[in-house]
Amino acid sequence: MALCVAVDGPAGAGKSAAARELARRLGILHLDTGAMYRAVGLAALEAGIDLADAEAVARVSASAEVDVTFENGRQRTWLNGRDVSGDIRMPEAAAASSMVSAVGAVRDAMAARQRAIASGTGAVLDGRDIGTRVLPDAPVKFFLTASPKIRARRRLNELLAKGIRQTFEQALADVEARDLRDTTREIDPLRPASDAIIIDNSEMTLDEEVGRMLEIARHKVNI
Ligand code: DC
Repeated sequence: MALCVAVDGPAGAGKSAAARELARRLGILHLDTGAMYRAVGLAALEAGIDLADAEAVARVSASAEVDVTFENGRQRTWLNGRDVSGDIRMPEAAAASSMVSAVGAVRDAMAARQRAIASGTGAVLDGRDIGTRVLPDAPVKFFLTASPKIRARRRLNELLAKGIRQTFEQALADVEARDLRDTTREIDPLRPASDAIIIDNSEMTLDEEVGRMLEIARHKVNI
């Protein structure tokens, strides 16, 4: 059975960076599941529908072909045959993804797809519901977190690196709004799985964090 590792946590907790590095060190794929919700969010934005209309979102999602490919371990995300890896990082796509991810039909479709990808080769999956829903039997589960201010600062730096400017206040407000939506939505709200190891990385370097995750993973699965 291929090794699957669940990495969940709130926006800006550094899940992607930690999951990517952990996957590299374990020699397995890293699947960024948020990118798939972002692609659905982008599809909904481009369709010009009301993002609060769950039925319209479900319809767009059903007709949107979301795919991921991997090149040297790097994920590319596709929407209807178009590479949207860059577009899905825009703040508008982030906000839209948070809305569409509250729709049950979207979550069902994405979870099934994620399970299929992971079961093939084994992977480190990062998201919000990996340990609780997508892979409840994963042998290794992490829940990464950090203070809202630190997460907002990280988001700001990420956006700046892409030439997108935002104020700290706006970034903090975005982080808090997404936390609220992600933790209070009816379906699969963000919460640690009962058997997840919680790591607060506010004061940790990426290297320290991944070192700790690797040690825990090795201990749990005897590798
Ligand atoms: O991690 P991210 O910012 O790229 O995620 C984008 C949105 O998708 C975020 O609002 C939460 C949602 N999401 C989810 O509901 N479940 C997942 N497994 C991954 C992301």
